[in-house]
Amino acid sequence: MKESDILATKDQLRFIEESSELLKKNEERSGKKLTASVITFGCQMNARDSEKLAGILVSAGFELLEDTEDADFVLYNTCTVRDNANQKLYGHLGEALFRKKKNPEMMVAVCGCLPQEPSAFEKLKKSYSFVDLIFGTHNLYAFPEYLNRLLSGERHIYEITDHSDSIVEDLPVLRKYPFKSGVNIMFGCNNFCTYCIVPHVRGRERSRESADILDEIRRLAGSGVREVMLLGQNVNSYGNGIEGEISFPELLKRVCDIDGIERVRFMTSHPKDLSEELIQTIKADTKICRHLHLPLQSGSTRVLKEMNRRYTKEQYMDLALHIKDEIPDIALTTDIMVGFPGETPADVDDTIDVINTVKYDNAFTFIYSKRMGTPAAVREDQVPPDLVKESFDRVLKCVQDTAREQSLRWQGQTLPALVEDVNESLEGYVTGRLSNNMIVHFPGPASLIGDIVPVKLEECRGFYYMGSR
Ligand code: SAH
Ligand code: SF4
Ligand code: F3S
Repeated sequence: MKESDILATKDQLRFIEESSELLKKNEERSGKKLTASVITFGCQMNARDSEKLAGILVSAGFELLEDTEDADFVLYNTCTVRDNANQKLYGHLGEALFRKKKNPEMMVAVCGCLPQEPSAFEKLKKSYSFVDLIFGTHNLYAFPEYLNRLLSGERHIYEITDHSDSIVEDLPVLRKYPFKSGVNIMFGCNNFCTYCIVPHVRGRERSRESADILDEIRRLAGSGVREVMLLGQNVNSYGNGIEGEISFPELLKRVCDIDGIERVRFMTSHPKDLSEELIQTIKADTKICRHLHLPLQSGSTRVLKEMNRRYTKEQYMDLALHIKDEIPDIALTTDIMVGFPGETPADVDDTIDVINTVKYDNAFTFIYSKRMGTPAAVREDQVPPDLVKESFDRVLKCVQDTAREQSLRWQGQTLPALVEDVNESLEGYVTGRLSNNMIVHFPGPASLIGDIVPVKLEECRGFYYMGSR
């Protein structure tokens, strides 16, 4: 860690202590225990950030609630990757305003990716002036300082920066699950796919030092974590830009060597940077989960070029089939986008061809959403909505048919599952996750949560299994 980052951490820890004093005073004044709630939109990276926000809130003395209904402080950790994510937030803010009218002491904060967009930031300030605190992704680590100011009575705190040099480590974190955890290995993205807002709101790619990552995972393992998911927008370029830093496959190997860590996942792999060394590393160590998320986006080489994905249809298919050859029990999943500007029905045929050839175990399909400031948004050949809908339905049907067929291939096998939860809808059942990321429900007591147990996969129901022990 840099000297300046160590100092920044110390400052923020001091702000947490001060916030805790201020909170006690506020509680005395209002005569009740103050509660907070963090609502998360978006990807695993945001989910991890929310655990950091929750950790800070709890360290400062707030009681954390699942629901916003009765919370005295509501934080929205936002996503802006597609427009529907934005609309969801504005819906929630409408409800927050309603509650704030009944409880004027209530505090509301918006953070994460959305306010990093200048137009969204302006809209929030102008039309949602009841929001007390707005901050972005680059200064998340300074949340203790902002909390301190809020608890001192300051309002309209707007803190957005468009750059981030520091990676502040060692602030408190409240994990959602005691037995598994996400671990950031890098932030930002340098790829600039022409449709994507992420590099604009998350900034340039920055890798954490491997020594810091491994220390964090050792500490996690010491506190009972058995599964880690290494997080980054493009984990395959881990270490670029840090002189002498180890590669991603080497990092994976070192994570696997940590006592107590039994499963390692990672997300996301850009196909253009996926190396043979990575494939052989996964193959050699069964601690690395049999699941690879390999976003395709489109099967048309022309569209891929216009998206700036930097691989062709053939290169992608060769890579995916090679991975399946080398590691036959791996589950491949993907992201597919439909309706990129200029996309024709023939381009969609190419996408369907890739799906039928690769046969994904699961796929997320998205309708292209125009993001302001990206090159694709200003193209004049936006695809008409009815054609997008028709293409989307075709892709979705193909994905579902092949994924259903793929899911069946585990039937009858007995595989280890990490038990994550009790099953809410089936009494006496628990829910576990297989190494290949599939879910299995089976009879068992809540005391199994956090254990890895062998489960017989009895019956495939679409995308999950019913099992027995
Ligand atoms: N870094 C990851 C993706 C992160 S965003 C990667 O490159 O694979 C997650 C997914 O959202 C993307 O894979 C893409 O399919 C989708 N997405 C991104 N921008 C989008 C947009 N403008 N419209 C629709 N979907 C989008
Ligand atoms: Fe977006 Fe492309 Fe970066 Fe993924 S790799 S976050 S899709 S720009
Ligand atoms: Fe959304 Fe930001 Fe993740 S835009 S997908 S939350 S990086």
